[in-house]
Amino acid sequence: MDTNRPLFIPVILGTTRQGRASESVARFVFEELSKHAGVETELIDIRDIKLTTTDAGEAIKDAKFSSQMSRADGLVIVTPEYNHGYPGMLKHVLDTNLKEYIHKAVGICGVSAGGFGGTRVIESLLPVMRELGLVTIFWDGNFSGAHKLFDAEGKLLDQSYVRRIDKFLKELIWMSRVLRYGRESVSLD
Ligand SMILES: Cc1cc2nc3c(=O)[nH]c(=O)nc-3n(C[C@H](O)[C@H](O)[C@H](O)COP(=O)(O)O)c2cc1C
Repeated sequence: MDTNRPLFIPVILGTTRQGRASESVARFVFEELSKHAGVETELIDIRDIKLTTTDAGEAIKDAKFSSQMSRADGLVIVTPEYNHGYPGMLKHVLDTNLKEYIHKAVGICGVSAGGFGGTRVIESLLPVMRELGLVTIFWDGNFSGAHKLFDAEGKLLDQSYVRRIDKFLKELIWMSRVLRYGRESVSLD
């Protein structure tokens, strides 16, 4: 087994809202993750996943999204905080898979207008991650006052986020590598 082959860690942009600041956050995280040797990534915009709203769960799997989740060794979820919770559309998309997520790492970036960097939405998403079989890391991305963090072209205005997100990504990459080793080499029996 080649333990040095690239990890696949996609970034999920978790809102379909017009004017979403989370898009700039997701693009920033995607670009920072792309700089890491040994990691392949993609930006998955949930707007591009067309799901019916008259059904839910594995019955309405999107083939492309499911294959991305099967291939993934880890995930970044970028979620805005809407009334202290996560967008229903994000949950609707996540609910379409199950076995694809098991024993894979996940890191969450919370995005909020207020000053708590989406900490409340992150806390509300943790039990969902656990039920999906994902393994959460102990670092988060916290993006407060999100509309003021980027200029009109989506360029980051506060460089302190580069160092902060680097810590988050290093932890996620480590956990993704460890869990891939575990999935491939450590028996459950
Ligand atoms: C329905 C709705 C509820 C919101 N609730 C909160 C909230 O509870 N706390 C907060 O700090 N910001 C709240 N916001 C503002 C968003 O967090 C803010 O727009 C932020 O940029 C992330 O969302 P966005 O990616 O859609 O822009 C809310 C926005 C919407 C549309």
